[in-house]
Amino acid sequence: DGSAPPSGHRHHGAVVPAGLAAGDSEVIPVTELTGPRDGEADRKFTVTAQRKTVKLSSGKEVEAWTYNGQIPGPELRMKEGELVEVTLVNQDIEDGVTLHWHGLDVPNAEDGVAGATQNAVMPGETYTYRFVAEQVGTFWYHSHQHSKEAVQKGLFGALIVDPAEPAAQPQEDITVITHLWDGAGFAIGADDSMRRRTIAPGTTVKLRLINTDDWVRQSYILTGTPFKVTAIDGTDLNGPTELENQSLDLLTGGRYDVAFTMPDRPVALRVGRGDGLGILMTPDGGGVLPALQRTTTFDPTHYGTAAETPFDADSEFDREFTMILDNRFAFYNGRFAAYDTINGAVFPNTPMFVVKKGELVKTLIVNRSAVEHPMHLHGHHMLVLSRNGERVTGSPWWSDTLDVAPGESYEVAFLADNPGVWMDHCHNLVHAAAGMTMHLMYD
Ligand code: C2O
Ligand code: CU
Repeated sequence: DGSAPPSGHRHHGAVVPAGLAAGDSEVIPVTELTGPRDGEADRKFTVTAQRKTVKLSSGKEVEAWTYNGQIPGPELRMKEGELVEVTLVNQDIEDGVTLHWHGLDVPNAEDGVAGATQNAVMPGETYTYRFVAEQVGTFWYHSHQHSKEAVQKGLFGALIVDPAEPAAQPQEDITVITHLWDGAGFAIGADDSMRRRTIAPGTTVKLRLINTDDWVRQSYILTGTPFKVTAIDGTDLNGPTELENQSLDLLTGGRYDVAFTMPDRPVALRVGRGDGLGILMTPDGGGVLPALQRTTTFDPTHYGTAAETPFDADSEFDREFTMILDNRFAFYNGRFAAYDTINGAVFPNTPMFVVKKGELVKTLIVNRSAVEHPMHLHGHHMLVLSRNGERVTGSPWWSDTLDVAPGESYEVAFLADNPGVWMDHCHNLVHAAAGMTMHLMYD
């Protein structure tokens, strides 16, 4: 009669949680936790995790873990509204692998977190993910089994969702992934040839900046043209205005989309302090690198134009949480070491935030440590309400990976509309592995 709780079902050896229930709460049906299991997919990909010796642009050869034999892995490109099916094959990564869609708010069972939403896919095994691409923008994917090693060794790639209406497309669309390897190598875009491009004057250009690197705060500096920041973490900004001489800083996991119209002179995107890394775009293939200007760091707090949002700082919140980010030396698992903490605790002793479906949740994030933490919440986008007590007055700013610098505090809010068990962690994966990890759970 439909009133019985649905039973968990298994596919490809992984356990999909049965409806979540605790106490006398309502059971959330399993169909809300998984992507559509039936129907022909609009777009299919097969991604094979495999070991490979890869030559970095520095010339150094390294033993990498790759998707489809390349770093970054293949760019997965899809259209808004499409039913997407991705088959993951693990050829020979003994630690096991998964695919996590960083920034895409997919149903919980498709989220690709080993130990939480599925088992790691072991050598010889396959696993199929299915979800509808509902958000337009710049995302990325990576393995979420032993994430620190997996991402560092190359198990990542870009994921782009194009709008259903093709009119909004730029004429040149360039994905820029930055990733360091032992400080030596550098992967940018799909291959080295991306480093010099000929672009006709008048062409509309979009750069999709993605930093996949732990530890390194990357500064991206665009010179030779004014530009607009059109999206943060895959979400469009409202009324972006033109900027010049501002550097765009990203920690691991964050993304900026940048747009400009190609002038009749060279434009350069420098990464870091610009020692040879970046892209030189010229109208005619020749050209000199435009001079590096003094820059300030872009701050989205007052950028663009305010617009209506489903909730805001004046809303009434059903729950309020506080996340204090810090670190301490401690004996833990028999080891005296530095740990990164949330509310004083090291994962798995960190608190679990429990919400009910439909609740509006506000979180205060305070960084009391001496290093920065890009805080990543799975399955939801956070509306940034304030930074250091100062309200966001510009465009609505939705984040999935919020860069919280030492001494800073942010108020963020999200609607609990995606039931499941979700990770919330620092995306400096070294910190995540050293304790700065917790879960958001639906009751
Ligand atoms: Cu990009 Cu929990 O991950
Ligand atoms: Cu951190």
